[in-house]
Amino acid sequence: MSQDITVKVPATSANIGSGFDALGLALSLYNEVSFRKTDEGGLSLVVEGLGQGKITTDFERNLVGQAMLRAALVNGKALPKNGVITLFNRIPLARGLGSSSAAVVGGLLLGNELTGRGMDETQILHEATLMEGHPDNAAPALLGGLCMSVTDEKKKVSVQTFALDEGLSFITVSPDKEVRTADARAVLPQTIDYHAAVFNVAHVAFLVGAFIGKRYDLLRTGLQDKLHMPYRLPLIPGGAEALAAAEKAGAVGATVSGSGSTLIAFAVKGEEQIAQAMKDVFKSVGLASVHHILKACNDGAQIVREDKR
Ligand code: HSE
Repeated sequence: MSQDITVKVPATSANIGSGFDALGLALSLYNEVSFRKTDEGGLSLVVEGLGQGKITTDFERNLVGQAMLRAALVNGKALPKNGVITLFNRIPLARGLGSSSAAVVGGLLLGNELTGRGMDETQILHEATLMEGHPDNAAPALLGGLCMSVTDEKKKVSVQTFALDEGLSFITVSPDKEVRTADARAVLPQTIDYHAAVFNVAHVAFLVGAFIGKRYDLLRTGLQDKLHMPYRLPLIPGGAEALAAAEKAGAVGATVSGSGSTLIAFAVKGEEQIAQAMKDVFKSVGLASVHHILKACNDGAQIVREDKR
């Protein structure tokens, strides 16, 4: 008898308007990473779902493989010699929905399971943040809910999490346009105007209050941002118009998800119409898009062990 181990990791939406590099939330769309022991053949990696044929299956170059190796290094134990690692991907790639964090968190959790579980949740988050560069996707991918993260000079992360309500829907619309995070960070200024900083402090506090108090009518105000949105929206053709269309169609707020190109709208009703309104704008600028109507994932990443004969 052997055991298959599967790690299920949610998509995430980082920033949430005014919470640049600090806020993130987990969504009910999941990638899975599983391990099946074999008697021979070494360690191999298979990609199914999104990215099949595009994502490398070379274990040492694949992000999941790299995260598994990192877990093994931290735990001071070797990964099993033989086995198949299967990635089943549903999170759109390079679209601002946390696909790379899902890979890192999935790989660290699976690697930790296979090398003695030496790391606790805090260490896994620390390693994920080091690999990602910032915690705003990694924290919700691991912990679920709405996460508010701060990092100290040594990159040590402290997180508060808050479970989001089932009544709130998240409509993600991903246009057929990749935006690399590095490119979306390259357009940001090196310094920021004092008034812009004060504006964001006020708005992010207001935004978190709106989520916690379930005052979804206030989300639109809290989402306003002067740190990244003005520089990044131009990277998404039709982006500004699609955000306006979402609100016109009944969304209580809408913003860029992570560094884009996905847009995320928040709603308590009329989800299909909101998605359609946003997709119509992308279509008008020649971009196909995929959408998801999601709820919050408040549990974060899950590990499932199944006995196999
Ligand atoms: N906070 C990050 C950014 C998220 O907006 O650049 C993307 O990794």
